[in-house]
Parts: sequence; C-alpha cells; structure tokens
Amino acid sequence: MSKHIYINEKIAPFNKTIKVTSDKSLSIRAVLLAAQAVGTSKISNLLESEDVLNALKMIKKLGINYKKTKNCYEIYGFGLNSFNPKNNTIINAGNSGTLGRLILSLLIKTNKKVKLIGDKSLSKRDFSRVTKPLKLFGANIKSKKNFLPVNIQGTEFVRPINYVEHIGSAQVKTACCFAALLAPGTTVIRARKSRNHTELLFKFLKIPIKVKSNKNFDFIEVKGLHQYNAFNYSIPGDLSSSAFFIVLTLLSKNSQITIRNVNINESRIGLIKILKMMNCKINFKNKRIYKGEKTADIFVKSSKILKPINCPSNLNSSAIDELILCFLVAAKADGISTFKDLGELNKKESPRLNISIKLLRMMGIKVLRKKDNIKIYGKPKLDLKGNYHVKNFLKDHRIFMFSCVAALTLNGNWAIEDKDSINTSFPEFLNILKNLGANIN
Ligand code: S3P
Repeated sequence: MSKHIYINEKIAPFNKTIKVTSDKSLSIRAVLLAAQAVGTSKISNLLESEDVLNALKMIKKLGINYKKTKNCYEIYGFGLNSFNPKNNTIINAGNSGTLGRLILSLLIKTNKKVKLIGDKSLSKRDFSRVTKPLKLFGANIKSKKNFLPVNIQGTEFVRPINYVEHIGSAQVKTACCFAALLAPGTTVIRARKSRNHTELLFKFLKIPIKVKSNKNFDFIEVKGLHQYNAFNYSIPGDLSSSAFFIVLTLLSKNSQITIRNVNINESRIGLIKILKMMNCKINFKNKRIYKGEKTADIFVKSSKILKPINCPSNLNSSAIDELILCFLVAAKADGISTFKDLGELNKKESPRLNISIKLLRMMGIKVLRKKDNIKIYGKPKLDLKGNYHVKNFLKDHRIFMFSCVAALTLNGNWAIEDKDSINTSFPEFLNILKNLGANIN
C-alpha cells in the first residue's frame, strides 16, 4: 500500500464549521499529571494520537493503570513518586520530544533502572537540555553524547534547584517544574518565555506555584512534595492543528471556516498575531476561560492582499510549531518578509528550517538565508505548474501537513510522502480536508 498521497488540483471554495482534534501539549501533560495525582482523574476529549497513546502506554509500564469509558480516560493515580517499574524497564516515547523529555523528570526519584528510547527522529534530538537540569536535582542519568537511549535511576536524595532556562523551551521549563514536585523545598526557574500550560495546570491543581513575568522571562517558584488530588479535565482543540486550516482558508479563494473550541492561550497564538500583521482576516468568537486556559471559536476568511512582515523574533516561541506555515503565507505576500533567530526550528521532529526553505525554493520562491535568519521574496500571483515530490525522510507530521496545504492552494501536481506521519498529532487531518472538498488520492 502506498504511503504517498497525490494532489493535482486546488481545493474549491468552501464555507464550513469544523472541529480539530484536541491539544497535544495539554493531553500529554494531563496524562502525566494524572499519573502522579492522588485518586482517579477523568480526562475527556483526550487526543488519541500516537504521541498521547504512547504516554498512556508508558504510565502503564510504570505501574499506573487506566481505563477508557466512552469519551473519557480514567487514570488511577497513587500520588507523587508512585511509579513502580520493574528493574531495567524500557519505555518508548516514539516520536514525541515532549513525552520523552517530561517523563524523565518524573523518574528522578524512582529507585529502579529505566531506559528511555524513541523512534529514528527522536533519537536524533538533543536530550541534554533536560538531562542537565535533572542531574542538578540529583538524578543519575547516563546517555551517549546527549542522545537516546537515556538511562535513568532515581535517588532518594533529590534537592531543589535554581535554574536559568535560556532557550525558550516549554519542554525544558516543564521538566524542571515536574521534577520540582519531587524535591523538598522551593525550586526557582528563570525561563525564557514559552507556552505556559504547565503553570496553569499547577494553579488549577492547587500545587504551590508562583509566577512573575517580564517581557522576555517568567520567574517561577514551585514548592515540592505537595500531594495534589485527582482531577477532571476536558481537553480543548489544538491551535497547532487548527493552523493548517487557518492557512488553507487564507490562501484559498472565496472561502471561510469556523474552527470550534480551540485553545487560544496567549503563549500559543503567535501565528494569529503574525498573520494579522500580514493583513489576514481572523477573529475569535465565543471566548471562554476553561480551568485557566482561554478557548474560542476561530473564524477565518480568505485574504486577497497579503502584506509582507518583518517578524519580531519574540513571537517565535509562541508560534514555534506554526512558523513554517507563516513562511508559506509569506511566499504569497506582496513583498519581502524577514524571519529571524530560527535555530530552534532545526531541532524539531525534522530539521524544519532546512526543509521548509528547500520546499519553498522547489516552488520557485526566492529565499535568502544568513545563519538562522531568512528573507522570503513573496509572489502574490504564485500559481504552480510543475510536478512536486515531497520526500519526508524523518516522517515529520507537520512537514506532511504543510505540503498538503501548499498543494491545495498553489496548484501543481504533488506527490507527498508518508501520510501515516499525521498519526502522531492529528489522525483526522486528511478526513477533515476531504470533508472540505479536497481531492486527495
Ligand atoms: C511543546 C513545546 C514545544 C513544541 C512541541 C510541544 C510542549 O517544544 O515545539 O511541539 O508541549 O511543551 P519546545 O518547548 O522544545 O520548544
């Protein structure tokens, strides 16, 4: 069976309301926090993608049971540090950097040896960004050259730390916050701004946390060894998954879409801010607050004239998984756009900066690169005629979905490899596209 898909025509105008699958960051955090809570947590609308299913498999291997009933996962927690794996247990994070990095932080006190492995893509990603602070907490961690497999054996003698997180990585910040739960005393983290779901969940769970912020940094204090109770949580829609439909609509003619109940946390909506600066028509309707998280329906209309942007790099972190889509919009803008400090993009499931530049150039777009800064020379009348083949060596879900949006809005005959990659984050992606009228073989 072919794992390619073929797209040979633009999507016809559409006017629909859709729902995308639930937020991946919140789903993984909810599973891991429920596994350390006291009692039975009930999580509904959990994202059932490979990354999250791997989180469930992992907690089970570590001795925490769960059951699915209808739309709800019940997770039976026994409190902090209640993982009880057999010695030399192997746990597999699959494709997920978030899962792999966060689980290590909850194992710093487990007295058995655990080996963390992952797939080909995850095995190329740096783990020293989390093993470094976790070693300061006291954990025994061994790995070859900072990559998977990582071997961890916890210690009784965990201590709180003072840490400066300078990358702007929510995974690193969260690993420190999770490890702080197991440390006596107060852990202090100065973190370059990144998504703040963990802090909001801690507040909702009444875990002692204090957060102060300035423009670029958050100052976080977590008091450890506080048992928290099991909880109920319903996961809202994922902005990162919505992003593909937002850009599909903007770049299509005479179309509009409403995406219902999406998480619009301020630390996640860099994409929306960037697109609005480029003249795009996007509105939030029915704004609500759910357990500290902002949600809304997102309304988007086709945009005729797209302005180029000199993108402020302090928006990068809040658009980290969506920047490649901003590049696609810039490719259709009326002028030259600039994006800076994009180094982190090459540290994702695949080197996304290199790959997206390659794809834009394949489409005939001029892109100048100086280190981690790029200039994209937009062509408002871009209309592709040739054959385009997207090889997706590391099976990156977001590169696959990005290519589908390009194919459906820019014309040309496209063969796009590895449709199964969507299973990591957004298994429903192709079905929703087909329901909007996309012709995909
Ligand atoms: C995530 C944080 C981001 C993001 C990833 C999910 C999270 O990574 O790219 O898809 O859930 O914390 P970094 O924090 O490493 O930038």
